[in-house]
Amino acid sequence: MKKLAVIVLAAGQGTRMRSKLAKVLHSVCGRPMALYAVDLAEALAGGRVAVVVGHQAEKVKDLLADRKVELVVQARQLGTGHAVAQAQSVFQGRAGNAWSGLRFVILSGDTPLLTEVTVRGLLAAHERERATVSMLTAHLDRPVGYGRIVRGRDGSVWKIIEDKDASPSERRLNEVNAGMYVVEGEFLFPTLAALKPANVQKEYYLTDIVEAAIRQGRKVSAYIASNPVEALGINTRAEMAEAERVLRGRVRQRLMEAGVTFLAPETSFVDAGVKIGRDSVIHPHVTLEGRTVIGEDCVVRSHSRLVECALGDGVTVLDGCVLEGSRLDGGCRVGPFAHLRPGTIVGRNARVGNFVELKKTDLGEGAKANHLSYLGDARIGKRVNVGAGTITCNYDGVNKHQTVIGDDVFIGSDVSLVAPVKVGKGAMIAAGSVVTQDVAADALALGRARQVVKPGWVKGWREKAKKAPSHSKGKR
Ligand code: UD1
Ligand code: CA
Repeated sequence: MKKLAVIVLAAGQGTRMRSKLAKVLHSVCGRPMALYAVDLAEALAGGRVAVVVGHQAEKVKDLLADRKVELVVQARQLGTGHAVAQAQSVFQGRAGNAWSGLRFVILSGDTPLLTEVTVRGLLAAHERERATVSMLTAHLDRPVGYGRIVRGRDGSVWKIIEDKDASPSERRLNEVNAGMYVVEGEFLFPTLAALKPANVQKEYYLTDIVEAAIRQGRKVSAYIASNPVEALGINTRAEMAEAERVLRGRVRQRLMEAGVTFLAPETSFVDAGVKIGRDSVIHPHVTLEGRTVIGEDCVVRSHSRLVECALGDGVTVLDGCVLEGSRLDGGCRVGPFAHLRPGTIVGRNARVGNFVELKKTDLGEGAKANHLSYLGDARIGKRVNVGAGTITCNYDGVNKHQTVIGDDVFIGSDVSLVAPVKVGKGAMIAAGSVVTQDVAADALALGRARQVVKPGWVKGWREKAKKAPSHSKGKR
């Protein structure tokens, strides 16, 4: 087979999105839409990929900075045909016409549902039929907005007519152009150079190469997608929502096939980069974002959101938690209503309970912080008990400071740890203490006023108070 090269079109603005952001930069299933086409391109022809950028080119370039692709700028967006023509220079080679020996796959930056299997199918059909131009088509119930495939009586393809240029009878055709093609290089670039913008939009249409090929007596092949949803092109926010729905469904399907239970799959929101181990159970209304990794036998209960987290095996996340950039080691349990901020580690079998916030804190193996606490910039040893309402005062208004607590420390309820401060192994902090000095191992620290009890005092006070004249008695 001939050598493959891929051209990805990503220069358009996407006017119909009504957005400040270029269309291909909008995220679908947690990733900018352009990346789907670029991933596919690299899988097909790694090393020979050109991406045509234009609108917000700098931002698209930043997005693709670590990809092995050539970027070509289309300064003015004069149409899809014009966009492909810009890529010619990338494939010149030494003799200046290396492109003529290549077979090109052309992908749009706005069709993220297209799969590699389908592209391979199109390539195989192209090869089998010895075609010069092949394109993916689909039968849609609502073909509005797409280019339509016009076929002759014998079923052979004649041309692609754009929606805006179509006659009423052509508009009724429901076979559409999916916007992905396979084209022989020796035909592609000379033909693009001869295109005329003779249409309603005054654009250079890539789709016109079909008619050109027919006129030259070349073979054009149309490969009909077995799943028409793959043809979905995103031009509007509603189409973007539909693509999101389909892609998220695929992600959950893949995870379920790998042994994950979703109790109500359609309510879970899982990014494409998420990994989940076998026999883990995801309850309704859970959001898993970024490259979150969940081990085996974990349970994530409803209304929790995990962003870029790593969970070991047998971890339980109870309802209503927000976990970001945190590591939760095997067997630990977090929540309900816990907030773990970036840089947090919850050790093996540790517990984090209701209304506890952790930030850049390492909570040791078997330690417990079960109720109403803020622990920030802290290193907390194994088996430490953090009493209800414990706060690390880590910020002095200018700098952040560390709190270090040794293994087996018992911290009573309502303790303030004024950082920087260290508490040695096995020490005990009395409830209600404000700890401003380091505490040695095995010491008891009390940092609060001594209790005073005055027997009968209230009774005497109450009797006196009742006799005194009051401003609020009687009239208002
Ligand atoms: C295009 C096809 C249409 C097909 C549809 C499938 C043409 C003329 N029409 O229409 O037949 O049914 O895709 O989704 O090709 N782009 C550039 N530079 C430009 C113009 C576009 O890079 O000057 C890029 C866009 O960023 C986008 C892609 O090309 O990624 C498609 O452009 P778009 O304007 O969305 O084309 P459609 O009107 O959808
Ligand atoms: Ca489009």
